[in-house]
Amino acid sequence: MRVIESVAEMVGLRRELQAPVGFVPTMGYLHEGHITLVKKTREENATAVASIFVNPTQFGPREDLAHYPRDIPRDLKMLETIRTDIVFVPGSSEKMYPAGYNSWVEVSGITERLEGAVRPGHFRGVATVVAKLFNIVQPDRAYFGQKDAQQLLVIEKMVRDLNINVTVVRVPTVREPDGLAMSSRNVYLNLEERRQATVLYQSLKLAEQLYRDGEKDADRIKCQMTDLIEQQPLAKIDYISIADSTTLEELATVKIPVLVSLAVRFGNTRLIDNIILE
Ligand code: PAJ
Repeated sequence: MRVIESVAEMVGLRRELQAPVGFVPTMGYLHEGHITLVKKTREENATAVASIFVNPTQFGPREDLAHYPRDIPRDLKMLETIRTDIVFVPGSSEKMYPAGYNSWVEVSGITERLEGAVRPGHFRGVATVVAKLFNIVQPDRAYFGQKDAQQLLVIEKMVRDLNINVTVVRVPTVREPDGLAMSSRNVYLNLEERRQATVLYQSLKLAEQLYRDGEKDADRIKCQMTDLIEQQPLAKIDYISIADSTTLEELATVKIPVLVSLAVRFGNTRLIDNIILE
């Protein structure tokens, strides 16, 4: 496994890599969700590239950039075990955003909803860094988790709109045995919060069950999800959404395929999760 820290070296290396090149961008502190993405990349491509970069431009001023969990040595060991070929680790943010940096990728429309409404500027940071990483690594395929459903839609839209020559591959959400979606942020939860956080997936499964039983009224489904989540005293709901799975427009009546998504806070930790009903 080669660990590359310089942008120029990564760009130069690209010509030597055997195609197809598969790529998994991450912010590190890897867990089984990330590992699943890299394993799939490994299986489906001649060369597997991963990146680790905690991207400052996608964090708001009151968000957890400084405290975002980091453990690069451990990440590299995990990536080596699953036979990753190349890991791009730019390290300092000046390498990606040198003084005078001025170019941004703005995907309008879907970025104004859900996570974008609560985290202004977040998707501008995500789209910009992913566009930069695509230009640096020049992958044939790039792998993203369904866990961040809106992020996936934003990347897919950016790739279409800007004619970027990359195939975006969707990977299903990897969960803990009790259903909690794996996330680097789960380490922030204390024992009691961790126990109560299982309600996120339970509420998504409840929505699915209600829909299968014939309930098509989005508000009634949201109400039942709210009631279930509020049984957990530490849970504070940011939003529950039932939206068109492409445009993210909120629906009054469920019409599949539909994205059921939610953001819930436990103390200072904000968790997101979703399912698609098809
Ligand atoms: P990060 O949160 O590290 O996630 C990297 C990739 O892993 C994303 O595609 C994310 O959707 C996926 N992932 C995370 N948890 C997952 C889970 N439980 N199951 C399946 N996939 C999961 O997302 C980012 O980093 C950043 O925004 C990034 C795209 C790297 C840009 O900075």
